[in-house]
Amino acid sequence: MTAFTVNDMPVDVAADPAKPLLWVLRENLGLMGPKYGCGIAQCGACRVLIDGVSTPSCVVSLGSLEGVAITTVEGLEAADGTPSVVQQAWIDEQVPQCGFCQPGFLIAATDLLARSPAPTDAEIDEAITNICRCGTYPRIRRAIHRAAAMQQN
Ligand code: FES
Ligand code: FES
Repeated sequence: MTAFTVNDMPVDVAADPAKPLLWVLRENLGLMGPKYGCGIAQCGACRVLIDGVSTPSCVVSLGSLEGVAITTVEGLEAADGTPSVVQQAWIDEQVPQCGFCQPGFLIAATDLLARSPAPTDAEIDEAITNICRCGTYPRIRRAIHRAAAMQQN
């Protein structure tokens, strides 16, 4: 058994300690926000926050998670369903196209803005290494700048 929290809920998962967190979230815990894209920490579709740090969940094993706090895209909104600042900026800029990659981008952007409240374009490009097959990168960059401005108001 491995005990940790997901979106502020305590969980205790009995599964192979080598099972990747991505599949624990999707198969054991029913959280389908994190997506499988590559399985080798390259695309970012599976990203979640682990103790606040954006991390590709496809390469993190269950056995390493004792006591950590995980946030998935499902946990970004407030308890009453109010979107987070980053989510609202995504809505305002109508960022997604097919949407598959977007949970990972929302997680990466949330992490970036927590560390750097007003990132430059260069900082965004350096920090957000996720891949979007639909090419939504310009809207993602605009949404991050919008979220930064919203946070300062
Ligand atoms: S599925 Fe994890 S980074 Fe691509
Ligand atoms: S919105 Fe389609 S892959 Fe990014």
